[in-house]
Amino acid sequence: MCGIFGIVTKDEQPLGPILIDAAKRLTYRGYDSVGAATLNGTQIDLRKDKGRVDEMAERYNFAEMRGQRGITQLRWATFGAPSKENAQPHLDSDGDMVGAHNGNVVNNVELREAFMAEGMTVRSQNDGESCVHAVERYVIQGKDMVTAIRLAYQDLQGDYAFVIGNIYDDKLYAIKKGSGLVVGIGDGFTCVSSDLPSILPLTRKIVRLNDGDVVTLSWNGVELHAVSDGSRIEREPELITEEMSAVQKGGYAHFMLKEIHEQPQVARELLHLLAHHPDVPSILQAIEAARNVYFIGCGTSYHACLAGSVYFGRLAKRTVIPILAPQFIAQYAPAVNAQDVGIFVSQSGETKDVLNALERAQAAGMTCFSMANVIGSTLTKQTSAWLPLTCGYEISVPATKTFTNQVITFLYLANRLGGGDGQALEALPDLMEETIAMCEPKVSTLAEEINAWNDLYCLGYGTTLPMALEGALKLKEITYAHCEGMLSTEFKHGPLSAVTDGFPVIFTVGPEDVPLIVSGINEVTCRGGRAIAIGAEDSRLRANATDLIPIPAAEAPIAALLTVLPLQMLAYQMSIGRGYDPDFPRNLSKTLTVD
Ligand code: AGP
Repeated sequence: MCGIFGIVTKDEQPLGPILIDAAKRLTYRGYDSVGAATLNGTQIDLRKDKGRVDEMAERYNFAEMRGQRGITQLRWATFGAPSKENAQPHLDSDGDMVGAHNGNVVNNVELREAFMAEGMTVRSQNDGESCVHAVERYVIQGKDMVTAIRLAYQDLQGDYAFVIGNIYDDKLYAIKKGSGLVVGIGDGFTCVSSDLPSILPLTRKIVRLNDGDVVTLSWNGVELHAVSDGSRIEREPELITEEMSAVQKGGYAHFMLKEIHEQPQVARELLHLLAHHPDVPSILQAIEAARNVYFIGCGTSYHACLAGSVYFGRLAKRTVIPILAPQFIAQYAPAVNAQDVGIFVSQSGETKDVLNALERAQAAGMTCFSMANVIGSTLTKQTSAWLPLTCGYEISVPATKTFTNQVITFLYLANRLGGGDGQALEALPDLMEETIAMCEPKVSTLAEEINAWNDLYCLGYGTTLPMALEGALKLKEITYAHCEGMLSTEFKHGPLSAVTDGFPVIFTVGPEDVPLIVSGINEVTCRGGRAIAIGAEDSRLRANATDLIPIPAAEAPIAALLTVLPLQMLAYQMSIGRGYDPDFPRNLSKTLTVD
């Protein structure tokens, strides 16, 4: 949760523009409040408030901020409502130290009480402030900054990363514990951030941090120490070669639209990678030999798990239990053992719910693999083998390309386990391209026509059920309307009563399910509802549905995946029509590192 960035330069200089740019690039991590602090010899200039970067930077004139060091933070609120007081960075009691965090300090309430009892000045409810006071507690006792941070680490429970500096030296200090943190090394400066997009415009030389690393940033280099015993850690920097355009909008109005259009290309790259990936055979072997197999994830990634379980049942005749990560803990963790296999699925690789489930599964001896997009994320480091999603950066909060590549990975594995060689999927990227081109105009018109509705349904059956659920999640996430996804045959068991004149019900249609779906369509249309079918051209759908959004003809498993593309587009168009920003929906964050 949240995004932090800190920079250390040799001499005092204008740092405001650098901090604004870094904050903009971290917006996807939180946008409840923004703050910036510069440290300047004996002074700290701190400006922060509730609001988004552009507006905040203008209102508080971040651009004029000067310093030899700077910190900025974007907040996704957990402890304390979004407000000026709870905005980060935070000062220590006497205002000579400033710091900001991302993540979640779970014993924040107890710590605040302890700090106040010890005579410290606590100004907010926010757990980022607790990180600052936790260090202050030991600095007051005369400890140097690295030692104070190491001791603070013992007091701060939870998963977090923070950056902190004081007016008595020319450095910044940071620590990583369970939340992302990367260091950048440039010519005459060093920097640290929750994620690469804010570092890459400044330097391509980076050091990835591990949990328990304490880093000291000076203008001409960084030093790493182990939090456990303070020993020096030597780690070579690596060079990032990816193009910066990968983290920009590439001519599209929004990241979401760009990412929707990138799906065919990243699917191609993924299929190429899977065909040669060294871990695929051992993962398949483990699945084959397992007593029970679980696919575990949250949100969109869970929908990919659902799709995976359908594919494994149909193509590989292998029963798989798809399960939401927290429910895995509650329901299955007591029963799993070393004979079981789990695939943990996550775009970010940092979702706390998923990491919690992984911890429980590993403690029970289960063999754990993962599928993630963010290379070097906690999930990838903590599983014995992991499959990359090869999507590049997904900036938009609503997941699109990472979902389709998760589904394609499962489809590929199921195909291989069922005796195929993956060749059957070769046509998929082209079909995705065709689908996007075919559906865009029709979806735009439809979005306009149904956008006044704040209740809608998205129904699927068999292979398309996970797509209907995912489509409904996309619609909810960025239109703020209520959209329920469900099995089409369940609709008549209750929700049908909601249907009135023009009420929109969307059906995702697989090629084998047309007669069944036509029944469902008629149950809606005969009551005045608007039945919108997404499926391959078919006279039965044409004759019965109010609207047909045609997709290319394909076999059931592939056709199912194609149905989600018009739904992503519909959600995007409706969000735009409502005047919302689909990239950064209210109340949400791309990376959920809290319970
Ligand atoms: C997807 O559009 C959502 N932003 C959300 O449901 C997301 O999929 C979920 O929070 C899980 O994230 P992860 O894939 O990074 O673990």
